[in-house]
Amino acid sequence: MNRDASAAQSRVPVVETFDLVRRFGDFTAVDHVNLRVEGGQFFGFLGPNGAGKSTTIKMLTGLLAPTGGRIRVLGRDIASDALEIKRRIGVVPEDLNLFERLTGAEMLAFTGRMYNLTREDIAERARELLVLMELDTDPRKLVVEYSHGMKKKLSLACALIHRPEILFLDEPFEGVDAVASRTLKDLLSRLTSRGLTVFLTSHVLEIIERLCTDIAIISEGRLVAAGALDELRRGIAVEGDGHDARGLMSLEDYFIRVVGGARETGDDVLQWLV
Ligand SMILES: Nc1ncnc2c1ncn2[C@@H]1O[C@H](COP(=O)(O)OP(=O)(O)OP(=O)(O)O)[C@@H](O)[C@H]1O
Ligand SMILES: [Mg+2]
Repeated sequence: MNRDASAAQSRVPVVETFDLVRRFGDFTAVDHVNLRVEGGQFFGFLGPNGAGKSTTIKMLTGLLAPTGGRIRVLGRDIASDALEIKRRIGVVPEDLNLFERLTGAEMLAFTGRMYNLTREDIAERARELLVLMELDTDPRKLVVEYSHGMKKKLSLACALIHRPEILFLDEPFEGVDAVASRTLKDLLSRLTSRGLTVFLTSHVLEIIERLCTDIAIISEGRLVAAGALDELRRGIAVEGDGHDARGLMSLEDYFIRVVGGARETGDDVLQWLV
């Protein structure tokens, strides 16, 4: 793959959903969602707890079958070409999916072999990724002994080892310390500038604001906003107050507005507690 000549500069969709639906029994977790992500975008997928973000990511990456609708990733239909798609994407799922009885290097080697990388490539890439993620200090440590943030970083290293064209990250910064988070942000920005597409969920709106070019917001399974981040913030700022020097509303204000506002915590609630 030549990433530089890839979809980066064009407006080619690399992830598309058409009326995507997922039900669990009678409950509809994802309700006719139409997403479009273009090559090279840094795409933020936001929504309150339980909105349907992880369910959507699982369907986009072939980990969960949709109840209805269609998904195209890298121009292929996931229903017929899941294996080919999985070869070309990297995923950090919500539950990380690591083997606890392996060391970090072993986990990376196992992942590299699954992607048919050569021994030399695996050794070189694993070494560099472990250093970058600062997971190289105790090479004998097993994943079961890793902290939550360490597991997250190892999962990200596993998602990168085969040079994916799209990276799907479900809450990549959650539990990661400030230094590692800076390294991660810099790395992701560098990769997107070279054409990698990133699709990420995060509750940290400052991170989304800093990194993402485009966003979609889901609430109770339905898409309630989608588009270029600055355009969305500008559109609403015209009628609202609380905007910055460029006339843009903060993402937090925008988010709260489109998902229906924060719950009231007046003086009369939780009196037993305070
Ligand atoms: N396997 C399942 N069985 C039943 N309900 C499920 C299942 N997985 C998810 N759900 C429900 O679907 C809804 C969406 O869940 P999902 O995990 O996609 O939310 P989310 O947007 O990722 O939330 P969070 O920000 O808390 O991670 C929730 O109401 C959840 O309880
Ligand atoms: Mg989730």
